[in-house]
Amino acid sequence: MRRTIFDIRNMKAAGEKITMLTAYDYSSALIAERAGVQIILVGDSLGMVVHGHDTTLPVTVDDMILHARMVMRGSQEALVVVDLPFMTYATLQDAVTSARKIMQGGGGQALKLEGGAEMVPVVRKLTEMGVPVMGHLGLTPQSQHQIGLRVQGKDVRAAKKLIEDALALQEAGAFGLVLEVVPAELAAIISERLDIPVIGIGAGAGCDGQVQVWHDVLGLFEEKSPRHAKRFAEIGAQMTEALKVYVAEVSSGAFPTAAQSASIKPEILQEALQ
Ligand code: KIV
Ligand code: NA
Repeated sequence: MRRTIFDIRNMKAAGEKITMLTAYDYSSALIAERAGVQIILVGDSLGMVVHGHDTTLPVTVDDMILHARMVMRGSQEALVVVDLPFMTYATLQDAVTSARKIMQGGGGQALKLEGGAEMVPVVRKLTEMGVPVMGHLGLTPQSQHQIGLRVQGKDVRAAKKLIEDALALQEAGAFGLVLEVVPAELAAIISERLDIPVIGIGAGAGCDGQVQVWHDVLGLFEEKSPRHAKRFAEIGAQMTEALKVYVAEVSSGAFPTAAQSASIKPEILQEALQ
């Protein structure tokens, strides 16, 4: 049985911290679940870390469906949340169409979208239609050309708006909220004031849970990870080292050996060659 939005809400009520992690394909979903991750996010960050784009903006609904399918096949217990891509929920009609395509096409149990009070009608509509919605406030990467890539909610007006937006999303029916790169003190207060779970990324330890990007926590890229990320391993370097050995062994003839090979009886080979 898959974890539900109710299980997640119960975790908050019980004071249990929630772990959310992005995963984008079958094998990563398998591993995330084996590690005990409770919520898998098929994030539109896949546009950058998987597809190699500079931003999340080029990601399409079809991209999300493809990756959501892989993640659903690789997981059995996780709550799987799928991002609605840039501009695919700009109007109510767009949101309904995108949500229908993803929920029918890819699976996933819930959708996530970026934006505050202006998204209330969309959140209300989707939740009324039976689609659980997670909000996403603060540094919302889909708006990066408008808001920049800096800490959000640092002045009085912005801090007030963040609190208002969070409450508005909860009121509209959101089952959870991601807070990205906002001051820790503010995120802690929002987590306290909201009944729904608040999952932080670069938002301090006071949130009800944390979300991180697969490639960041595993240290897949050699470049420095963003400040909000912690590298729990250096898998990228390990992969490079392993593949260097592979290349070296192919070059030298050390690989493959009989252990990796099949053989044929000499007399059969003899006869076949006649
Ligand atoms: O796309 C993503 O990975 C996200 C998380 C960073 C919250 O939205
Ligand atoms: Na995202």
